[in-house]
Amino acid sequence: MRVLITGGAGFIGANFTHQTVRERPDVQVTVLDALTYAGDLKSLVPVADHITLVRGSITDSDLVERLVAESDVVVHFAAESHNDNSLNDPSPFVQTNLVGTFTLLEAVRKHGVRFHHISTDEVYGDLELDDPAKFTPETPYNPSSPYSSTKAGSDLLVRAWVRSFGVEATISNCSNNYGPYQHIEKFIPRQITNLIDGVRPKLYGAGLNVRDWIHVEDHNSAVWAIIDKGRIGETYLIGADGEKNNLEVVQNLLEIFGHDKNDFDHVADRPGHDMRYAIDASRLRDELGWEPRFTDFRSGLEATVDWYREHEVWWRPRKEAVEAKYAQTGQ
Ligand code: NAD
Ligand code: TYD
Repeated sequence: MRVLITGGAGFIGANFTHQTVRERPDVQVTVLDALTYAGDLKSLVPVADHITLVRGSITDSDLVERLVAESDVVVHFAAESHNDNSLNDPSPFVQTNLVGTFTLLEAVRKHGVRFHHISTDEVYGDLELDDPAKFTPETPYNPSSPYSSTKAGSDLLVRAWVRSFGVEATISNCSNNYGPYQHIEKFIPRQITNLIDGVRPKLYGAGLNVRDWIHVEDHNSAVWAIIDKGRIGETYLIGADGEKNNLEVVQNLLEIFGHDKNDFDHVADRPGHDMRYAIDASRLRDELGWEPRFTDFRSGLEATVDWYREHEVWWRPRKEAVEAKYAQTGQ
């Protein structure tokens, strides 16, 4: 099987590339990545001898068509992925998430190639803290930010290309991931690297917002289950019952580092900050028999802390610029 992985130098795509090389030696992997600020070649060094890496954009239709024509499956991770950035400048989000996904869809349509689209639970908007409901594949779309609205738009393009043109595609909407190789602009690695530097963690607002955490390896095993056994045209929600509020996550990290649980700072809240995400993954579990393996959040977090402690050369070059950017918005 020849698999084209878009965004394979980013957080989840790099972990997916590693998992694929490790567990599926018969798969021929090509990574297409523009190496934006979020992509890092260092994340692919351990698998460099087993993959073909192409530097380029998913909005480049000639390049995309050539690579798609040589593939059996496209797994589409490439995106602008950070909400805070989308509030500062939505433009690359429209280009990559909407135009890029459109460009890929046109190529898979032309060449009859199987497509799996990686998306987020944020397309559903948010839930109240006291709401017993979780997101299901039937929840209406109601995105809040430029990031989530461009992801929602990309999902709708995929659905339309399935229905109108018979493209063989599946979609997955996953909750918040954590694990190795995550960009340090994101919540968990930002706090871990702050703590390594002796800086207090930064909590937006009161810190009561809830995210449904899943280990990146579990996300990626679910993606393979969908590619192997998923029904064409279907949407699968991926989550591992990992709801935690941000305050709990920060206090877990403070404990791991041996600090007092009040050693953090409240900083400016995110405008339009979604309150709670929660996934009902029963379709994935019941239909495809998928089960998460990293269900103990605390030990997953400890392993992630160890990873960042041991891979300072990976994250250190980005730290100053990330913190300078947050300083501009009082965060
Ligand atoms: P990331 O920002 O770490 O990586 C994105 C990658 O895409 C980078 O390597 C970047 O260079 C590449 N890229 C960006 N624009 C490109 C373009 N025009 N052409 C080619 N490559 C381009 O993101 P991530 O956290 O790994 O997220 C991957 C996917 O998973 C995204 O589609 C995101 O919406 C989705 N997702 C993420 C999470 C999460 O918690 N991080 C949860 C659910 C879904
Ligand atoms: P983030 O990792 O940006 O993911 P998302 O916005 O996709 O959920 O943020 C996760 C949560 O953590 C979110 O509620 C915002 C919050 N947050 C902080 O409290 N402090 C921070 O420094 C960051 C980056 C995020």
